[in-house]
Amino acid sequence: MQAIIVQTEQKNCPLAWQTVPDPTYQPHEVLVDIQATALNRADLFQRAGHYPPPAGASEILGLEMAGQIRAVGAEVTGWQVGDRVCALLSGGGYAEQVNVPADMLMALPDEWSYQQAAAIPEVFLTAYVNLFMEAQLQTAETVLIHGGASGVGTAAIQMTRQAGCRVFTTAGTAEKVAYCEGLGAELAINYKTDDFAEQIRQHTEQKNPVDVVLDIVGADYFARNIGLMALRGRLVFISSLSGAKTELDIRQLMGRRLRLIGSVLRSRSLTEKVAIKQNFMTQFWPSFLDGTIKPIIDSVYPIQQVNEAHEQMRQNRNIGKIVLSI
Ligand SMILES: NC(=O)c1ccc[n+]([C@@H]2O[C@H](COP(=O)([O-])OP(=O)(O)OC[C@H]3O[C@@H](n4cnc5c(N)ncnc54)[C@H](OP(=O)(O)O)[C@@H]3O)[C@@H](O)[C@H]2O)c1
Repeated sequence: MQAIIVQTEQKNCPLAWQTVPDPTYQPHEVLVDIQATALNRADLFQRAGHYPPPAGASEILGLEMAGQIRAVGAEVTGWQVGDRVCALLSGGGYAEQVNVPADMLMALPDEWSYQQAAAIPEVFLTAYVNLFMEAQLQTAETVLIHGGASGVGTAAIQMTRQAGCRVFTTAGTAEKVAYCEGLGAELAINYKTDDFAEQIRQHTEQKNPVDVVLDIVGADYFARNIGLMALRGRLVFISSLSGAKTELDIRQLMGRRLRLIGSVLRSRSLTEKVAIKQNFMTQFWPSFLDGTIKPIIDSVYPIQQVNEAHEQMRQNRNIGKIVLSI
């Protein structure tokens, strides 16, 4: 088959759609003919040599896909050849075929395109696990989502609004700010022109209004994130785009009984990922089916133009997901 592999010794080399061995599948897995996959920031990190695949994961790029089942393992029940599916992957999405544990599959309604479906798994499951499982976000709580126009941010804004939360977010351009407000954020702040902490305090007229922060920025935002947090607030780190080292006054944690949570999705066990997928589907899949929540797609490239697609993300030009059609 054709696929895109990143060899560890080739940092940031152009990506090539090349011939690789066909994947095999285990009795508990299905083999899928991939029709679409999507970019994630982690693909850029992996390509730069900073985010190697976890043990046992494919060296082929790609953390999600949508396609049609081509073959079914001997122990698999409930799925058939020809079923339209999408899934989170620990690698292997930028390819013509992939083997997937059947328990990770999500069935697509007939009217959904593969491109739409490929834009769902990684960012929605990331936003879901961190906000609703790790941080235990509750209805009517206030959440601050950094990087609101990112793939993860556009998923997080929609799910938190749907859950009845008050949503604040940050983004780096006026266009992104307007988009986030259109998506349901009560307040979106251009962090390049305004101090997000000051803006949130002015808007809420409270010193510590935020119950949960979903953070991708790390060091640069740490003091301001902590300062904004309410009694029993939770701060979840899912990336550290500005740097990972910072200083902490432990008394602030004690005084407001704050919790700091660090979390990655990719290296979790299959059992954990299946539980996350099931919880997500129970709570939010009906909102996808009735159209209340949808994947936000910035652009679609044919897989042969993967280098242009990566450049679009590297330059922070995307709002939502960049999809690759295969
Ligand atoms: N821990 C996990 O399991 C997990 C899983 C998935 C994703 N993530 C992380 O979540 C983040 C979003 O992922 P994605 O695929 O949705 O990314 P994405 O669509 O590429 O969006 C990332 C956005 O972050 C903003 N940004 C970049 N550098 C920044 C900085 N130094 N300070 C503030 N904002 C910055 C940019 O938007 P602006 O124009 O608004 O600056 C950029 O468009 C990534 O950092 C990714 O690594 C973590």
